[in-house]
Amino acid sequence: MAVAMEKSRGLIGLKGMSRDELESILNRAAFWEACPNKVEPVLQGKFVANMFFENSTRTRFSFEVAEKRLGAEVLNFAAAVSSVQKGESIYDTVKTLESMGIDAGVVRIKAIGVMEELARTIKVPIINAGDGNNEHPTQALLDLYTMRKQFGSIAGLTVAIIGDIKHSRVARSNLWALRELGAKVMFCAPDNMHAPELEAYAPYVSIDEAVKADVVMMLRVQLERHDTGLIRSAEDYREHYGLTVDRAAAMAPHAIIMHPAPINRGVEIDDELVECERSRIFAQMANGVPVRMAVIERALLNG
Ligand code: CP
Repeated sequence: MAVAMEKSRGLIGLKGMSRDELESILNRAAFWEACPNKVEPVLQGKFVANMFFENSTRTRFSFEVAEKRLGAEVLNFAAAVSSVQKGESIYDTVKTLESMGIDAGVVRIKAIGVMEELARTIKVPIINAGDGNNEHPTQALLDLYTMRKQFGSIAGLTVAIIGDIKHSRVARSNLWALRELGAKVMFCAPDNMHAPELEAYAPYVSIDEAVKADVVMMLRVQLERHDTGLIRSAEDYREHYGLTVDRAAAMAPHAIIMHPAPINRGVEIDDELVECERSRIFAQMANGVPVRMAVIERALLNG
């Protein structure tokens, strides 16, 4: 079941990634999903460090599962119990791990621009596990993989991304890759969650129009921003922008619901819809493992 892979190393973002390269990663993920062995030690003897300077459940653990399934040695760095608490910089932290002999680093950070700098200055491949509101490339790849599994092809699909577009790295990575693969992307968001710099790439539509898309992708309401006045209340947000049971009833029969999670049940999506028949939310999480296996393998075996 050999699938050709393109020569490449780290993964900082999907903006500018070619259709061929995106498809090569998705094809390799399909290979790993079909692999009957839980562990296939192609990365035996390689050390991968997961360096999360921001909290995570799905991304961190699915990278760890993916690395272990490939037979890599895994180091998990937790900022909260590290010398970051003494003021050590992100660069010095990553450089420290590199000096100890890691072969690749998976990094999540809040700051924008730092990931590109790390990729330039650190010699081992760096994989972006989410940086600020810039990119979350492996999330978008697993989203694409989920859509392709469902519909056979991405080209021609309409994908509505609903929620806090302004602060969403998931929206951005999906936008770049979906457009490259021939999907039509539309956004739906309150005025104060628009990203003006993206308006040339995806139109804003009403919630009633958005729920008619082939893929209805809900974004997490960042309730921690509630205090800053970004949303009036959780109830108000649900009423105007939430995927309620009533709104879901207007979806096309073939359409699916997606959400990168974590989920605020009863805010951006009704509790009853999270695990309903058309929801692919937990399938997305499952697909994250083979997709990240493909990304790590690409970084370590094709450099
Ligand atoms: N979807 C996602 O990135 O989830 P985590 O923040 O839990 O990694």
